Amino acid sequence: MWFSTDRFTDKIPNIKKYCNLKKWWYLLEIWALEGKSAIEWVKNRDMKVTCVDPFILNPKWNFWTPQDVMDRFYNNIKDYEKNIELIKLKSFDYLISANYEKLKYDVIYVDWNHISKFCLQDMVLSWELLDKWWYMICDDYERANDKNYKERERPSTAIDSFIKIYQDEFDVVWKGNQVFLLKTK
Ligand SMILES: C[S@@+](CC[C@H](N)C(=O)[O-])C[C@H]1O[C@@H](n2cnc3c(N)ncnc32)[C@H](O)[C@@H]1O
Repeated sequence: MWFSTDRFTDKIPNIKKYCNLKKWWYLLEIWALEGKSAIEWVKNRDMKVTCVDPFILNPKWNFWTPQDVMDRFYNNIKDYEKNIELIKLKSFDYLISANYEKLKYDVIYVDWNHISKFCLQDMVLSWELLDKWWYMICDDYERANDKNYKERERPSTAIDSFIKIYQDEFDVVWKGNQVFLLKTK
């Protein structure tokens, strides 16, 4: 098992602290990369993770090819094949079909892109797949504080809009660099 980057371990303490996660549950993770977070979720738990990732990488990351990343994903999850599945589609396409099939998840983790438009699309489309009394986790909220990014290049623009529009349907359990929403309706 090898990861060139770890974008997840530092997030575990807050997830454990603020989300009341039961023993068995279904997680939808919008991104997969090398499988680091998927493995962390299932490592000590009996649960199922669905990762949606078409392996389309930011051209700035020219030190990786999409094929390398996907091979690493499959190699890394070898011991957890029962618990982790990969859907090689863009989140938008998967979420449309999952809505059509009326799939349900207990936790949805939205984290593939910082561009507000894509975050908002993912949040709106995945909200309908989320069961009541479960969580949506959105990442990179504190990019709002980095003035190098335009408003439309920050997840916070989407997260704040979503919170305003859907405010009757959840409790905001925690807001830091991640935002945890507990669905109440
Ligand atoms: C590194 S993650 C971004 C993680 C996170 N936002 C961060 O940097 O902290 C980017 C991943 O999203 C995937 N990705 C690209 N387009 C996607 C899409 N339309 N739907 C889901 N995942 C996508 C890429 O293949 C890559 O594995």
